[in-house]
Amino acid sequence: MAKDFDVAVIGAGPGGYIAAIRAAQLGLNTVCIDDFESPDGKPSLGGTCLNVGCIPSKALLESSENYERVLHKFQDHGIKAQGVSLDVAAMLARKDKIVQQFTGGIGLLFKKNKVTSMHGHGRLIEGGESYLIEVTGKDGSETIGAANVIIATGSVARQIPDVKVDNLRVCDNVGALSFEEVPSKLGVVGAGVIGLEMGSVWRRLGAEVTVLEALPTFLGAADEGIAKEAWRIFTKSIGLDIRLRCKISAVETRKKAVTVQFENDGSVTKMEFDRLVVAIGRVPNTTDLGLESVGVKVDGRGFIEVDDRNRTAVPNIYAIGDVVRGPMLAHKSSEEGVAVAETIAGQHGHVNLEHIPWVIYTSPEIAWVGRTEQQLKADGVGYRSGQFPFIVSGRARALGETAGFVKMLADAQTDRILGVHILGPFASELISEAVIAMEFGATAEDIARIVHAHPSLSEAMHEAALGVDNRFLSL
Ligand code: FAD
Ligand code: NAI
Repeated sequence: MAKDFDVAVIGAGPGGYIAAIRAAQLGLNTVCIDDFESPDGKPSLGGTCLNVGCIPSKALLESSENYERVLHKFQDHGIKAQGVSLDVAAMLARKDKIVQQFTGGIGLLFKKNKVTSMHGHGRLIEGGESYLIEVTGKDGSETIGAANVIIATGSVARQIPDVKVDNLRVCDNVGALSFEEVPSKLGVVGAGVIGLEMGSVWRRLGAEVTVLEALPTFLGAADEGIAKEAWRIFTKSIGLDIRLRCKISAVETRKKAVTVQFENDGSVTKMEFDRLVVAIGRVPNTTDLGLESVGVKVDGRGFIEVDDRNRTAVPNIYAIGDVVRGPMLAHKSSEEGVAVAETIAGQHGHVNLEHIPWVIYTSPEIAWVGRTEQQLKADGVGYRSGQFPFIVSGRARALGETAGFVKMLADAQTDRILGVHILGPFASELISEAVIAMEFGATAEDIARIVHAHPSLSEAMHEAALGVDNRFLSL
């Protein structure tokens, strides 16, 4: 007799584990099934984000920034450091410890909230009144039943056809987070979020980094003004060699090197690297999930089809996170998880995909919410813009982080904020004010009238809002 649950969540990434906790809090008997294993073969909750994504990458970004600070930035403060050396093993161990603390913490949260946790691969095998899911682990299979199913199986790295990722020479995000020594020459395919973040880490630690991007534009999803300034900083000050319009034609892996051949503006170039990171986007993960057995459909790009409340066309089957449309971001996955759990419990869960913040954790950071200037132009929306540079901010000067600016875009008629774009220190933190403002339908004038602490980086947001009405106070 199969164990029966009110809710079965397949996947324990930031979408799945949050959905399971919220469902259990709402009194639903909930199981969460996950198949992720750490390199030593142990079950490890938290999905891509905690194991091989957001958390380990941010740990390495911070470590590499500290190294950069001690080598190049402390002198400005009158601090002289001698005999500085790098212990990559210790850096990786710190990162792994942070990951273990968080992944282990989810197990505790499951216990506290009475979520049943099952380790193994979940596959839908039958529909009807209750859905049957087969869970296959090392010790065999078990079948469970659930009245509601939440699919949160996430995404996996997209691969270049015929290029094998071995995570030794040719790496995806998993390998890129664990080089045991700094490569002297690192190649990165794709100048997207992972390419820029991981490229920055290894550049700061001493690698010569070449980034090969297929498109003719840099950071096409970001505001053009931000992308232009970021390009200048990343290529000039940081020293990333970013090449656009590159078509990879061959990748040859040898024991200690990898050669990449690419076409660029009509010429063919061959480059040799110690390691190559392939970061050309991610694809939804529905491998061996049994979707066909219950009639759940995927679209042409492999995403599970859902409506604006994450319902598939099959009753009581929902899908959230990277496996469905919308940005592939941890916080988007989690909020969809909460919304779906609340919908199942009879409440009205909803996520506004228009106001999901984006952050790229380079130095300086990039963050935005809402529409870009080029989108507003394309949509024929009249707007006013206020842009304030961090070089004029007292706090930014004290930090020694003066690159970049805050740009606010507001509707020309109503003054409602339509988009906020930041390049600069702690952009990841500053963007929250803009998200809150936009969710509350605030105008630029509202932000202009709110008192911001002095001296703080948030004053740049205040000034950008004042700038929308062309009445800067510090510029
Ligand atoms: P996932 O986190 O992918 O979790 C899915 C889980 O389901 C996995 O554990 C998987 O093993 C399991 N699973 C899949 N199929 C089955 C099955 N059939 N049975 C059982 N289990 C299954 N996002 C941010 O917002 N901020 C960041 O800073 C950030 N940094 C990132 C850095 C890197 C290097 C990468 C790769 C991604 C980063 N992301 C970041 C993106 C973020 O990791 C994802 O958006 C997020 O993890 C998606 O959550 P999810 O729950 O939908 O899926
Ligand atoms: P991405 O979509 O950000 O960037 C991929 C880049 O590769 C694009 O610029 C694309 O034009 C380029 N590209 C595609 N095919 C190519 C090819 N054959 N040759 C050369 N270039 C090619 O994807 P990325 O960096 O892999 O990250 C995946 C996703 O993970 C992100 O989109 C984001 O959703 C998430 N993520 C989020 C982070 C954050 O929030 N800070 C950090 C890292 C990842």
